[in-house]
Amino acid sequence: GDVGAGEQVFNANCAACHAGGQNVIMPDKTLEKEALEQYLAGGRNEKAVMTQVTNGKNAMPAFGGRLSEEDIANVASYVIATSESGWD
Ligand code: HEM
Repeated sequence: GDVGAGEQVFNANCAACHAGGQNVIMPDKTLEKEALEQYLAGGRNEKAVMTQVTNGKNAMPAFGGRLSEEDIANVASYVIATSESGWD
């Protein structure tokens, strides 16, 4: 996916709960590398992020009806790339 386009999707749809790669609702479940490795169902990879964004999980809403597959692929690329480079 397109990381730059994914950053726009992230800022518009995810940053309310995940600003700076954090998690305001469940503070341990951040978007940092170690947290994704530990908690994300399916492991720290773009496909696993796409699945969670599409379907939601617990207090995280599903975006499958609101974002296109392309937007979801792009935001997943942004999340994985930024977990690698660091959120700050
Ligand atoms: C968890 C991505 C929007 C609330 C996660 C995780 C990812 C993610 C990858 C797994 C983190 C981990 O397990 O360490 C995204 C993306 C979003 C988005 C890319 C936008 C498209 C939101 C929004 C909210 C939210 C808007 C709040 C209303 C949560 C919560 C969890 C979570 C509560 C923990 C879920 C659980 O395991 O019970 N998010 N998120 N997310 N997110 Fe989001």
